[in-house]
Amino acid sequence: MKVSNPLNIRGFRIYKDFLDRKEQSDLVKNIRNVASDAPFVSPITPSGKPMSVRMTSAGSVGWVTDRDGYRYQAHHPSGSPWPAIPQDVLDIWNAVSGVSRQPDCCLVNFYGQDARMGMHQDKDEGAFEWPVVSISLGDDALFRMGTPTRGGSTESLWLTSGDVVVMGGEARMVYHGVDRIRFGSSSLLPKNGRINLTLRAVDL
Ligand code: SIN
Ligand code: FE2
Repeated sequence: MKVSNPLNIRGFRIYKDFLDRKEQSDLVKNIRNVASDAPFVSPITPSGKPMSVRMTSAGSVGWVTDRDGYRYQAHHPSGSPWPAIPQDVLDIWNAVSGVSRQPDCCLVNFYGQDARMGMHQDKDEGAFEWPVVSISLGDDALFRMGTPTRGGSTESLWLTSGDVVVMGGEARMVYHGVDRIRFGSSSLLPKNGRINLTLRAVDL
């Protein structure tokens, strides 16, 4: 982990190249273990629209969405508890979050060729004083940052494998999303695509 001065865009703290190649491939191994206990699912939004990312979680709670709404829950849709958050992932939180509170959820998003994430706020956590920490692995992603209200001005930045973004303070409730990925731009994942890990503290 290379803790140097982050970029600051609209309060988003962006640590470019935070993880070296070995740290990235070790994380991928950990995520494969998570996904073997808690398989990726293709979720739908509460209105029934399929999401383009595939998702799973680790932690005491996982983030899920289906016809019953967006929420955190203690079980995978299969009914099994979520696996623990890998220690390597907690180490990254502890290096950049600036808080001693530990995260409750590590959401794992997989972006295939045409996946994207519409502009949204992270607002299901029940408490917003804790930062959100996001880790990028694999293909490049065009990350868009807006304002605390929908439809404001935006700025975009390409996130590459090993980058870590901290959304805290004024950035905690800022709209953000991923417009597209550059499929095949990284050699980290043998079949390409992008993994994003999002760490959050959740008070239910
Ligand atoms: C998200 O905000 O839910 C995902 C961000 C990312 O994939 O980089
Ligand atoms: Fe988000």
